[in-house]
Amino acid sequence: MSQRRSVWSIDDGPAWPALSGSERCDVVVVGGGITGITAALLLQRRGRAVILLEAREVAAGTTGGTTGKLTSQHGLIYHDLAERHGWEVAQAYADANQGALRIVESLDNETGAASELTRASAIVYDIDGSNSDRLQAEYEAAIRLGLPARLTGDTGLPFEVAQALEFTDQAHFHPVRYCRALATEFQNSGGRIFENTRATDVEESTGQVQVGTEHGSVTAQDAIVATLLPIVDRGGFFAKTKPWRAYGVAARLTGPPPTEMYISVSQPIRSLRPWPAGGRNGAIIVGESHPTGDDSATPGRWGELERWVNENFEVDSFDYRWSAQDYDTADGFPYIGRSPFSERTFVATGFAKWGLTNGTAAAVMLTDEILGEDNPHAEVFSAGRIGDAKTVTELIKTNTATAVEWVRDRVGRLSLPELADLERGQAVIVSVEGQAAAVYCDASGRCHAVSPTCTHLGCSVRWNDAENSWDCPCHGSRFGIDGRVLNGPATAALARVEIPGSASREESLEPVEETDALVDEWIDNSFPASDPPGEVPPGMSGDSSDRPPR
Ligand code: FES
Repeated sequence: MSQRRSVWSIDDGPAWPALSGSERCDVVVVGGGITGITAALLLQRRGRAVILLEAREVAAGTTGGTTGKLTSQHGLIYHDLAERHGWEVAQAYADANQGALRIVESLDNETGAASELTRASAIVYDIDGSNSDRLQAEYEAAIRLGLPARLTGDTGLPFEVAQALEFTDQAHFHPVRYCRALATEFQNSGGRIFENTRATDVEESTGQVQVGTEHGSVTAQDAIVATLLPIVDRGGFFAKTKPWRAYGVAARLTGPPPTEMYISVSQPIRSLRPWPAGGRNGAIIVGESHPTGDDSATPGRWGELERWVNENFEVDSFDYRWSAQDYDTADGFPYIGRSPFSERTFVATGFAKWGLTNGTAAAVMLTDEILGEDNPHAEVFSAGRIGDAKTVTELIKTNTATAVEWVRDRVGRLSLPELADLERGQAVIVSVEGQAAAVYCDASGRCHAVSPTCTHLGCSVRWNDAENSWDCPCHGSRFGIDGRVLNGPATAALARVEIPGSASREESLEPVEETDALVDEWIDNSFPASDPPGEVPPGMSGDSSDRPPR
């Protein structure tokens, strides 16, 4: 029977305490994924006293939900980057990600991570030849950038493909074992880690920055916010990024598994690789991406993946099912560096599901920037390439208006007796005595009611049937049925709503109508009329894009 957790989740290994009280250090890192833990280790080794805060456990978030591919081949990206932004940007992206592969391998060796890091090719394949021009263009771009690329028709897959683009000498590994080994090394070097410690705010004042949490605070000279999307977002990244969810399964096959790493170039996107811990015939398959908060977040996503695996391989069992989230950026590559409107806060976001190399590269760039050292890629990836404020403002208002309209259209008019008839497993957004409530009926028949108003910027959450969570379509915050935060950028729980006759606790409910005021306040604070929105390197803009899932 399939387990509903990531194939990389582990029950053994070190654990760290939660923060309690006040602490001081040189650099506080918020977020214990691959970006945060790598930066923490590099800074600690360079003589900084570092504290790492993680809302759950180290590497339990998106890092622990990836395919575990370490590659500079990110689908078809280089020709597009060169076309949109020029060869300098494409070269920086190629060099940063190829360099990250070498850094991971080096740290893996140094820390004895037991991450099963294995060299393999990364292959993007075209089934029917309809993308041959794109593959050719990508191949030519890759060669010009010095990447180890070649066109081939021989993939090792158990089905025919018209053509494929192979990057040789890439790698796959166990991302959680790797990050936990880095965390242990970080601690052995004098660093301190606090798990189950969710940061709630990051405040800069003269000469220092303070990170607040529910049960304490850390004061430091600098802060790195590596929380997928920054929890404190003075740079407007939430308006220039788009959250996506993707689904994964781990299978034991009766026949040979994939020997290399693969991804299809056209829909349905399928990403696969060997799964060494699954025995000789283990395989991991990821796909079925959709925007977070989409209505089609259902368990059927895993069903589609498993149907595809059954059609193409002989399957013995499906052992794990999970999903994960990441953000695409408006201009197609990550934002890394000092946060706009900040002196001492540094961010990294928008890895577009390729965060194992992008996140490692980001850790190096952030380390160099904090230490005041040059980094050859810092200017290209600058977090200050914010685009024009007008575009950002329009995006925020459009996103928010969409969500408000959605909930206005769909808030039911159920009366309380009808609410009591909700079926087990059913979730609805209803009006309870004049107030909107997101209500879920659990397996025992008990209703859980929370405000549908996201605590980040006031959009309305939607039910995720696959994960039993309330997901915000605007910027990807996710909440449990009791309202607690599962994914930021929100840092506060959804307010509970009392249903008369239930055991739920009553708290204030924020009216949906207050959304516009919240957004206006954020815009006024972030883009004062006299203040430019941030540097915009030549050839870059904050225009929105809607890159397909990979
Ligand atoms: Fe931004 Fe919900 S995540 S409003």
